[in-house]
Amino acid sequence: MVREEPYCLVCIECGAKYSPSEIIYKCRRCGNLLSVEYESEVMTPEVSERWIKRNLSVWRYMELLPISDRNKIVSLGEGGTSLNKCPRLGGEFGLRSIYVKNEGENPTGSFKDRGMTVGVTKALELGIKRVACASTGNTSASLAAYAARAGLECVVLIPSGKVAFGKLIQAIIYGARVIQVKGNFDDALKIIEKLCSTYSIYLLNSLNPFRLEGQKTIAFEIWDQLGRRVPDKIIVPVGNAGNISAIWKGFKELYSIGLISKLPEMIGIQAEGAAPIAEALKKGTEKVRFVEKPETVATAIRIGSPVNWKKAVKAIRESGGLAETVSDVEILEAQRLLAQREGIFVEPASAASIAGLIKLTRRGLIERDEEVVCIATGHGLKDPDVVLKQFPRPVEVEASIESVAEMILTHNLKADRVVSAEM
Ligand code: F0G
Repeated sequence: MVREEPYCLVCIECGAKYSPSEIIYKCRRCGNLLSVEYESEVMTPEVSERWIKRNLSVWRYMELLPISDRNKIVSLGEGGTSLNKCPRLGGEFGLRSIYVKNEGENPTGSFKDRGMTVGVTKALELGIKRVACASTGNTSASLAAYAARAGLECVVLIPSGKVAFGKLIQAIIYGARVIQVKGNFDDALKIIEKLCSTYSIYLLNSLNPFRLEGQKTIAFEIWDQLGRRVPDKIIVPVGNAGNISAIWKGFKELYSIGLISKLPEMIGIQAEGAAPIAEALKKGTEKVRFVEKPETVATAIRIGSPVNWKKAVKAIRESGGLAETVSDVEILEAQRLLAQREGIFVEPASAASIAGLIKLTRRGLIERDEEVVCIATGHGLKDPDVVLKQFPRPVEVEASIESVAEMILTHNLKADRVVSAEM
């Protein structure tokens, strides 16, 4: 007898239900995205008693992950990332409880690994041999790694010349078939979506609902790391809008299980040149107008037609949150600040959440005692070029004690002068 899974796929708009063993990404009735929903038998507070016995990681929460065979999980040790309290950064803006969830600590350096461990495990369960995605870089790096781990063939489409160097290198070394498309991410996603529905290739972009299930564990971990409390606000950089939707789903599940009694406000941050969702919400409309030629230094979120826009708008609205835009200058300044005040080096897209925090604080939309968690989505080493372009190269001196001493002393004298001038 075939065992019925305690979860199914449900259309976010019309509620049509599909079996989780079907390979389907959009509702056949109305074309909207799908979401994984669990039966009441697993949505009970008792599940959390099992969580306590496991390490902090994506799989700590396996009762709420849509996997049938726990012995076949494809893992590289994802999740369990630090939640850093940031008093030096927060103090600069008069804030007392700022945290950064450092997703750069994941195996391939971004939050995408949380989704891929679930998505690729699902691919194996479904008997898939070949997986694919379009990507601004991190999804391709992550999928390539997990596909290698699972022994699957992997194809990735990336926008030509617009993927940070470190991410490109990752996809190559993990053995993916990397194809550069002369277009942007949105073009690449349309192409791969069509190809996946024509040939038997499994699509692992964020319109795959199983992938987002892994990403919702960011919410579970934050709650765990805060001692089973929920922060007031969560600030998330938004590109294709899957992650903000996933984190919201995580908190809502904790709420419906009865493990929490309040929900956080979800704040989505987009780069000015790629901000269809933020622009719409700021105008007070839910009519999202896609951006044809998105542009930003934060290449990870250089996306004009976010496929998950409906889920994201819902998440922000339902949570009583908001969306904001930040400029490239604000993003780079936030990246530098986070590195130099807290020792956390993130890529530009991740710094968008910090830039958003700063902007909203200056506008009086974040209060001094509020507990705020910024999601730092990816590691700074992925995109070294962006740093090299902003900072002067280190000075070079002769290999002698005198030369180095002279350089240090000159530097110190200069620093002393600045300090004394301020006094
Ligand atoms: N931050 C980073 C570092 C990302 O790589 C992405 C998305 C986001 C934020 C936005 O997340 O799309 O769920 O809203 N990167 C995708 C990729 C698009 O292909 O790597 P989102």
